[in-house]
Amino acid sequence: MKEILTKLTRLYGPSGHEEFVRDAIKEMVEPHCDEVIVDPLGNLIAHKKGSGPKLMLAAHMDEIGVMVTDIDKEGFLRFTKVGGVSPHQLLGQRVVFKNGTFGVFGHEKLDDIKDLKFEKMFIDIGATSREEAEEKVSLGDVAVFDRDLVEAGDRWIAKGLDDRAGCAVLIKVLQELSSSPNDIYAVFTVQEEVGTRGAKTSAYSIEPDLGLAVDVTLVGDTPKAPTNAVALGKGPTIKVKDALVLAHPQVKESLVEVAKSHGIPYQFEILDNGGTDAGPIHLTKSGVKSGGVSIPCRYVHSPTEMVSKTDMDNAVKLLKAYLTSVQV
Ligand code: CO
Ligand code: ZN
Repeated sequence: MKEILTKLTRLYGPSGHEEFVRDAIKEMVEPHCDEVIVDPLGNLIAHKKGSGPKLMLAAHMDEIGVMVTDIDKEGFLRFTKVGGVSPHQLLGQRVVFKNGTFGVFGHEKLDDIKDLKFEKMFIDIGATSREEAEEKVSLGDVAVFDRDLVEAGDRWIAKGLDDRAGCAVLIKVLQELSSSPNDIYAVFTVQEEVGTRGAKTSAYSIEPDLGLAVDVTLVGDTPKAPTNAVALGKGPTIKVKDALVLAHPQVKESLVEVAKSHGIPYQFEILDNGGTDAGPIHLTKSGVKSGGVSIPCRYVHSPTEMVSKTDMDNAVKLLKAYLTSVQV
C-alpha cells in the first residue's frame, strides 16, 4: 500500500488533467483485469468479468488545484480555483504545474486576514517579467499542491489523498480479488472535484445493477470539530447519505452484514455537505441502487490530508468480501 500511495499522491492530476494518474493506475491493474479501457472523457474502466450482476465501483483520480487567469507585467499570476480550494489553505504552500514549474502564494496588503480572498492573492513563480513568466506558464494552466506522502504511526499524510486513497483501495481490491461471480467494473473517474462528471458518463455506458463510490469522508475527531461521529482508525464508513445521494437501504444494509460477518470495523457516513460519485451513478437511466464505502480523512482539501492505514486495509477487506458475496 505504501508504494502505491506514495506513487499516486506524488502525481500531478487536477480535474481535466488526470493522464499521469490514469497511466500509473492502468499499469497496476491491467494484469489483474480482463479488459481495461479509457472512455472519451478519460475515465479508466477496469473490467473483471463475471456472470452475475454488474457492480460499478468508482474512485476519482482528480485532485483540486488552481488555474492561471492572468499574468501581470511583473510576472505575477492571478488565479481561480479548480474544485473546493479555500484561500487560507494556500498560504505558505508550494504548488507545481504540469511542466514542473513551482509557484508559491503571496497576497496584497490586508488590514484584516479575514479579507483574504483569491482576488487579493497571486502566485509567484520567480519570474521577473510577463515575458519570463509566459515562457513557463500560460493562461489556463493548472497547478496542484506539491507535498510528498509521509507516515506518522498508523497515519498516512499527503496531498491528494482525496481521492488517491480511494484509488489505492480499488487497485488493491482488483489485485487481490482472484475471482468473483459478479461482473465488476472498477472505474477510476475524472472531474469529480468539479461536479462528479466522469462518474456520470461512465455509469451511463456501463449501466450497472449496483453502484458504489469509494472516496474519503469528513471526520469529527479533532479538537472542537463540527459534530460528526466519524473518527480515524475506527473503520471505513458505510454511506447513509451525502449531499448528492441517499444510499439505497439494501446496499447500506448488505454492507453492514458483510462487515459484521467478517469482523470488519465500520462506521456510518452521514454527510450534509459534499457529494461523491454515488450521486450521478444512482440517477443513471432508470436508477441504480447505490451507496458508498469511504475512508475517514482529516483536513480534506488541504496539502496535508490524513488517513489511517488500518482504515484503508479494512476498506480493502470490506470491498473484497462484499464484491464476492453481494446479491442485487
Ligand atoms: Co474532494
Ligand atoms: Zn473525493
